Amino acid sequence: MKLVHTRVELLEALGHTREAGATLALVPTMGYLHDGHLSLIDLAREISEFVAASIFVNPLQFGAGEDLDRYPRDLDRDLGLLEERGVDLVFHPSTKEMYPGGNPLVTVDPGPLGDLLCGAYRPGHFRGVLTVVARLLGLFRPDLAVFGQKDFQQAVLIKRMVQDLGMEVEIRLGPIVRDDHGLALSSRNVFLSETDRIEALALHGGLLAVQEAFGAGQRSHAALQARLRALVSRRPGLQLQYGEIVDPATLQAVDPVLPGAVVAVAALCGPTRLIDNHILEG
Ligand code: PAJ
Repeated sequence: MKLVHTRVELLEALGHTREAGATLALVPTMGYLHDGHLSLIDLAREISEFVAASIFVNPLQFGAGEDLDRYPRDLDRDLGLLEERGVDLVFHPSTKEMYPGGNPLVTVDPGPLGDLLCGAYRPGHFRGVLTVVARLLGLFRPDLAVFGQKDFQQAVLIKRMVQDLGMEVEIRLGPIVRDDHGLALSSRNVFLSETDRIEALALHGGLLAVQEAFGAGQRSHAALQARLRALVSRRPGLQLQYGEIVDPATLQAVDPVLPGAVVAVAALCGPTRLIDNHILEG
């Protein structure tokens, strides 16, 4: 596994891959890797000959007062995990290397979908995400890039960016990886105490309750949403931000609710923001 820190080193390393004519898959991350990230590496490995990962905590996607400074980092551990999974190349740039001219003046506008759901609570977040993803795709020019369903709105916006800006890359999504209790894995879970973890399970519990009611024939948005919100709101340790059932393309609330609609939830658990979602089946 090759580790590179600069754009020059990266382009040189990628040159060899291109000469060999291998397909290249990129898995962008902010590090502090867990089994969710690693499942995306495995997916990339299955569909591509050459697998690259990036580790970069992107300041552009953190708002004022968010957790940029305390975002967890452990490069050595991450590199060990990536090597075990058979990753070929890791790009770990500094902020100066990614944004040599300082914060970019020209950024990718997520449009109206960027103001909904998480965007309403994190102004500028998706502009920061799309800008760094566009930058990474421009540097790597991969055949495929792999993202997680866990960050559902992010995945929708990245697909939309690639489509609307005509970027030559295929976007693949991997399913949400959870712990044994159902909590969606997240680098930020490290901030949760034992009690917080129990509280946090109500997010997945709420999603399952909506699936159950939907499976039993409930199609009313209001009824399903009330069930979700009630289950999360009754936990003293959680502060619900949103609980919505939306169309996966438009992110607008759907009524009646049909299979394929996405139940999305966000809540604060102390200072830690948690998100989760579920695609309704049946
Ligand atoms: P990060 O939070 O490190 O996540 C990197 C990738 O892992 C994303 O595609 C995310 O959706 C996926 N992921 C996270 N938790 C997961 C889980 N439990 N199961 C499956 N996949 C999971 O998302 C980002 O970084 C950044 O916004 C990034 C796209 C790298 C741009 O900076």
